[in-house]
Amino acid sequence: MAIELPVTRPTNPRFSSGPCAKPPVFDLTALSDAPLGRSHRAAVGKAKLLEAIETTREILGVPADYRIGIVPASDTGAFEMAMWSMLGERPVQMVAWESFGAGWVTDVVKQLKIEATTHTAEYGEIVDMAALNYNNDVCFTWNGTTSGVRMANGDAIPADRKGLTLCDATSAAFAMDLPWDKLDVTTFSWQKVLGGEAAHGMLILSPRAVERLENYTPAWPLPKIFRMTKGGKLNEGIFKGETINTPSMLCVEDYLNALKWAKTVGGLQGLIARADANAQAVADFVAAHEWIDFLAVDPATRSNTSVCLKFTDPRITDGAAFAKAVAKRLADENVALDIGAYRDAPPGLRIWCGGTVETADVAAMLPWLAWAFETEINA
Ligand SMILES: Cc1ncc(COP(=O)(O)O)c(C=O)c1O
Repeated sequence: MAIELPVTRPTNPRFSSGPCAKPPVFDLTALSDAPLGRSHRAAVGKAKLLEAIETTREILGVPADYRIGIVPASDTGAFEMAMWSMLGERPVQMVAWESFGAGWVTDVVKQLKIEATTHTAEYGEIVDMAALNYNNDVCFTWNGTTSGVRMANGDAIPADRKGLTLCDATSAAFAMDLPWDKLDVTTFSWQKVLGGEAAHGMLILSPRAVERLENYTPAWPLPKIFRMTKGGKLNEGIFKGETINTPSMLCVEDYLNALKWAKTVGGLQGLIARADANAQAVADFVAAHEWIDFLAVDPATRSNTSVCLKFTDPRITDGAAFAKAVAKRLADENVALDIGAYRDAPPGLRIWCGGTVETADVAAMLPWLAWAFETEINA
């Protein structure tokens, strides 16, 4: 049985969960103001780096007394530098409900080998954040990029906690409200919600996180790219654009360009609304088709960025092969690129719905998903 091809194609078929689609207005010529071939320590370079920090603060609503630094090695670098520099002062609660959180558990338990309690949930579920001991340090991921499960809010985190909260917000920043008063360390990378370039990490520290850095020295050695203090004092320069090592000024310009675009769509609330509209388009599709469902069990925890779906048709015998074949059909038609589930996640699809994606493109892509499903199930 031949299934008819949909007529409309998305203008942009990029639905990858990282690196994510660039802003719709992106054009390489917009980067022509990058101070290429100049030192990042020259006034022009430092000014660009400081602008990236302060515009991030403005759009995300980060409090004035929180430090924001641009650090090496993307989100991974930012989160690891925080864990290696701050953990070990007290016991740690490690929280994981998908692959990235699980990676941080491995770091703490197998590499740092500090006293830790691990709380995990299966893909699709979330850990009960109210059951944690916040007088310990707590490490968690706000949005589980590989399961499409996110924190609904930060209400479970007490304001008067004694420990620090370390939050990997890679696929949440610029798409979800982050309660800064509940977060002591927050990290993300440019390559996600704003469609920036990879390799540069953002590290946001509360005053209590800085206090920890200045009053605690870990028992283990720290490589140069993790070091945030000198002589027991915070290296304030890092948080003013004096990066630890050399950043790419082309990537900085690209991030500035994305931030500028973010302002044109209404800043954080505009970006959240765009992601919500994209995720809603997928939700409407899921509601209308009985062969597909969200991986996230509780609708309150469904991500509006990394939307993870599973096929539920009883005719499917090999779930992994089926999902792969559907994703391949969509890629071959150039209507949806890179939407197979993450390698460690249950078989299915992951459709990026962050604010750089246009709702019209999601809407144009979904009939193709129905086409690919019907074609594959009847193959
Ligand atoms: C939740 C989460 N943490 C960490 C990472 C790693 O980010 P990066 O590769 O930018 O270091 C990702 C990337 O997908 C992520 O989604």
